[in-house]
Amino acid sequence: MGASTVELDSSKTLISPSLLSADFARLAEEAALMKEAGADLLHCDVMDGHFVPNLTFGPPVIEALCAQTDIPLDVHLMISNADETVERYIKAGAAIVSVHAEACTHLHRVIQIIKDAGVIAGVVLNPASPIAMIEDVIEDVDLVMLMSVNPGFGGQTFIARVVDKCVQLREMCRAYGVDPIIEVDGGINRETAVEMARAGATCFVSGNAIFGADDPVAELRELRATIDAARAEKVSARA
Ligand code: DX5
Ligand code: ZN
Repeated sequence: MGASTVELDSSKTLISPSLLSADFARLAEEAALMKEAGADLLHCDVMDGHFVPNLTFGPPVIEALCAQTDIPLDVHLMISNADETVERYIKAGAAIVSVHAEACTHLHRVIQIIKDAGVIAGVVLNPASPIAMIEDVIEDVDLVMLMSVNPGFGGQTFIARVVDKCVQLREMCRAYGVDPIIEVDGGINRETAVEMARAGATCFVSGNAIFGADDPVAELRELRATIDAARAEKVSARA
């Protein structure tokens, strides 16, 4: 197994189940289950008890997981010191490293470090942060992640305001002639995913809706089918 790469194709729907809602004592088995379901990515929520009021895991767990699965790891850093520690997550085998605009003093530098290592660089915005905060790095990033809950916990309710923010982000990307992957994280289920797909998101993190389902494999497949149907409708409406 080991470090895997991701195809940056915004025409494809990417599903990134969040391991925050998985059984931490059985991460390899949960990853295997997600492989069976056809997950494109595995979302790893790194929390430091400082930037967010919760603690999860760090580079050693990511490295161990990377050795157990060939699904690319989508690492979401909810930490105050990404400026100093980002290299450790790269070395641990992340395929994507996303950092919060609110948490990085030298956001541009951190993004360059990720990209120079050949890893996909993402920037994340909290629900209360406007897209103007990332305008000066929009040409540098491969991915933008919009938080649709306040980060820290799984199973929270989707904040609907992010739908408009996603439309605005798409407009900003068009104006700059860039096409980053637009990922959404928090409260994503079949209903909210459809709203976000219509607004232009193509990568969907989902924790509670998948791992909390009676049949997580079937739920992931349903989620993808529902999103793909909404995206196909959108394309035919434009034609
Ligand atoms: C929240 C995390 C999310 C979370 C999503 O801080 O960044 O990735 O696990 O979980 P659900 O889908 O349950 O909202
Ligand atoms: Zn996350």
